[in-house]
Amino acid sequence: MSEVVDRVLDVVAETAPEVREGLVGRREYETSENPSGEQMLAADRYADQLLEERLLAIDGVASYASEERADVVHAEGSSADAYHVAVDPLDGSSNLKSNNAMGTIVGVYDEPLPARGEHLVAGAYVLYGPITTMTAAVHEEVTEYVIDDGERRVDREGVTVPDDPTVYGFGGRVPDWTDDVERFVREEIESDDSIKLRYGGAMIADVNQVVTYGGVFSYPELQSAPEGKLRVQFEGNPIGYIIESAGGKSSNGEQSLLSVEPTELHQRTPVYVGTTSLIERLEAALA
Ligand code: AHG
Ligand code: MN
Ligand code: MN
Repeated sequence: MSEVVDRVLDVVAETAPEVREGLVGRREYETSENPSGEQMLAADRYADQLLEERLLAIDGVASYASEERADVVHAEGSSADAYHVAVDPLDGSSNLKSNNAMGTIVGVYDEPLPARGEHLVAGAYVLYGPITTMTAAVHEEVTEYVIDDGERRVDREGVTVPDDPTVYGFGGRVPDWTDDVERFVREEIESDDSIKLRYGGAMIADVNQVVTYGGVFSYPELQSAPEGKLRVQFEGNPIGYIIESAGGKSSNGEQSLLSVEPTELHQRTPVYVGTTSLIERLEAALA
C-alpha cells in the first residue's frame, strides 16, 4: 500500500502550485464558519475543494476529512485496507492578508477517522514560503522536498530535529497562559540566551523553524481554552508524527500527541513539539 501513500504525496505536490496561485484574489472571508467555529477564507475553501476531489480519486483512499468540513467524505466503494486522509487545506490562513507564510497539512491513517495518531502511516506538510517545500514522514523516515512545477524533488533525506534548541514559539496571549506554561517559558526558555523567539502565526512555518534550527513550537493549554486551539486529527497528529519520526518529541502536556484518544473529528488539543530534551522538561513542568 506504500504506492498509495506515494500517490497521495504526489497529488498534494501537484496541487500545491494551484493552491499557491489560487491565493491571489481569495483573501476575503466567507460568511460561513468552519466546524471549529472559525471564519473561512475563500482560499481555505478553494484548497479544500481541490484536495478533496483529487485525493478521493486515488484508488486506495477510502475517505477524506478536512478541518473545513463537519463530516468525513467517503469514496464510492473502497477496500477494507484502504487509507483515510485528514487535511488542513490551508494552515495559518490568517497570514494571507499580511502575506506571510502558510501551509497545507496531510495525515494518512490506516483506520477510519477520527483515529489516534498511532494509526498514521504518513504525515506531510507543504510550506508556502519563499519557495514551496514539502516535508514528509513515511514509515518514520523524514524527507524534505522542493516542489518545482508540481514535482516533488528530494532536497534533504534523513531530516532530524537538532538536539540543541535555538528557537521557540508559544501561541495564545501571554496573560491567558496557565501559570505552569508561563513559568516554564520565563524560567526555562527566556533565561537561556541561546534560544530566541520565532512565532509567525502559521503552525507549519513555525514548526519548520523548529525542524530546521531545533527548539519548541507550542499552542499551549490556555486559561480560557484548556484544550488549546489546534486540532488533533488535522494538525497535532500529522505534525507530531513528523516531529517524532525526526527524532524529536510531541506532547499534549502529558503524553505523546499520537496516543491522544480522539472522541470527535474536530477535537482540539494542547500542542508541544520539538527537541526531545526540551519537551521532556516541559512535560515535567506541567505535571
Ligand atoms: P488555521 O489557519 O488552519 O486555522 O491554523 C491556524 C492555527 C495555526 O496555524 C497557528 O499556529 C495558530 O492558528 C495561530 O493562532 P493565533 O492566531 O491565535 O496565534
Ligand atoms: Mn491549521
Ligand atoms: Mn486551516
